[in-house]
Amino acid sequence: MAQSDWWKKAVVYQVYPMSFQDSNNDGIGDLPGITSRLSYIKKLGVDVIWLNPIYKSPNRDNGYDISDYQAIQPAYGTMTDFDEMLKKAHSLGLKIMMDLVVNHTSDQHEWFKESRKSKDNPYRDYYIWRDPVDGHEPNNWGSRFDGSAWKFDETMGQYYLHLYTEEQPDLNWDNPKVREEVWSLMCFWLDKGIDGFRMDVINLISKPVGLPDGEKKPESKYGSTSMIAGGPHLNEYLREMNQKVLSKYDVMTVGEMPGATPKDALEYTGFDSHELNMVFQFSHVGISGNSDKRLGHWNDEPINLVDLKKALSKWEIALDGKGWNSLYWSNHDQSRAVSRFATDDPKYRVRAAKMLGTTLHMMQGTPYVYEGEELGMTNAHYTELAQYEDVQSLNAYKEFVEIEKIVDKETMLKYLAFRTRDNARTPMQWDDTENGGFTQGRPWFALNSNYKEINAKENLEDEDSVFYYYQKLIELRHNNDVVVYGDYSVIDLDDEEVFSYRRRYNDETMLVISNFTDKDVIRDYGQVNGKLILSNYSDNKNTRLRAYESKVYLIE
Ligand code: NOJ
Repeated sequence: MAQSDWWKKAVVYQVYPMSFQDSNNDGIGDLPGITSRLSYIKKLGVDVIWLNPIYKSPNRDNGYDISDYQAIQPAYGTMTDFDEMLKKAHSLGLKIMMDLVVNHTSDQHEWFKESRKSKDNPYRDYYIWRDPVDGHEPNNWGSRFDGSAWKFDETMGQYYLHLYTEEQPDLNWDNPKVREEVWSLMCFWLDKGIDGFRMDVINLISKPVGLPDGEKKPESKYGSTSMIAGGPHLNEYLREMNQKVLSKYDVMTVGEMPGATPKDALEYTGFDSHELNMVFQFSHVGISGNSDKRLGHWNDEPINLVDLKKALSKWEIALDGKGWNSLYWSNHDQSRAVSRFATDDPKYRVRAAKMLGTTLHMMQGTPYVYEGEELGMTNAHYTELAQYEDVQSLNAYKEFVEIEKIVDKETMLKYLAFRTRDNARTPMQWDDTENGGFTQGRPWFALNSNYKEINAKENLEDEDSVFYYYQKLIELRHNNDVVVYGDYSVIDLDDEEVFSYRRRYNDETMLVISNFTDKDVIRDYGQVNGKLILSNYSDNKNTRLRAYESKVYLIE
């Protein structure tokens, strides 16, 4: 089948099914709930919906621990509900992209249950088992969700590898049978007519030969696993996937790739690579880690704008004309965009949310809007550990406060409140009725307490809302080639207050200016000669930029 590149012009909306819309009042979002909201998503103007995992799962890691790739999580509905959702989406002109989670399965997957039965079981080699070394773990790797990456299995007298929770054993991709299983489950969904895959931590599937120890800093208990990213057979496996599966369908693919550099991304998404269309990179969400390296990304530091500009610009420049970028502020693993990258102070929140939207949507790449971002939804500002659900956050608290005792409770609670993934997972705020219109039952996870002020109904009734501003951003992309294809150059990289850049395509130049502060500042980039095509203020003061002001100009 001829591959086209429709995804270059597309905008994606991410739906976290558990928290989007409940239809049967069990407190959990579901597929009929999503179907009932497709017209809302369509109204925003996006082209594609990315669904977080909806497969059968014990939910140890909210669906990223899959026990059956070809069954729907019962709480989300049935396969018939899925087929109906897909049909309705297609009838509205919306494409559906599924999450492909194949670095690991759940420990409740039949393959793993078989694998742990005996050493000669045909599924044994589907996972990564090793003998103890001197009575200990086979190497020093730490799990990405804290603790060792190895779990000892009493019956087998061996350890298995799990880069995430111990209920998420890693698949052995070096086994051709595993790869065939993956190709076959991909075809199952593609043959149903889905339009693409977002591939979970896909750069971790090829483990280094001999599983050597990772670099261990004196202060850390475990060795790093960063060298697993981009392992020895990654290109080969992705090419095989492309050849045996993807090339037969006209679909879009995005590989989640923690640790990937622009150079790596070009290898996997370069226009001649025949692997993936684009990657999710982590450079910009990874800025401002804790100065105590042991705490990793747990911090409550406001972002440094120069670091942010550097992180985003390096990807724009490196991929231009050679590969394709993905653009996102937030997803189900990140804090709410407006709280992390600007401000959720009610005085500025709406302007700040629009300013962030402008800054990202006018770049080169495929933008992803995370559910609620189009409403300017904010962090939940938790104060108690009991308010958290997420295994990563709870594990981190246990490890750093209780076991290692490297940070006190109050400080860790502040870090969690700022960076927890739970910020993104509170239910969607549809209106100001009880539980925000998400459910008539008891929500699986409490809503953000500000749902009465921030919700979809209020946005849809206000023509000056974040929602309608995002609609304009999406329209601009659809109608202007300079937004899609223009090259990118950052202006005054060292400016700590304003993020501005130019895009150029044929003889058109677009100038984008965003004030990231709550102060008035003066900047002259020659904008007086341009035509203002979008702004988050109703009037224009030319070189004067007000709090969180953002403007887009076309310059002939
Ligand atoms: C990345 C996913 O986005 C995250 O939610 C999950 O916990 C890990 N991969 C493990 O699958």
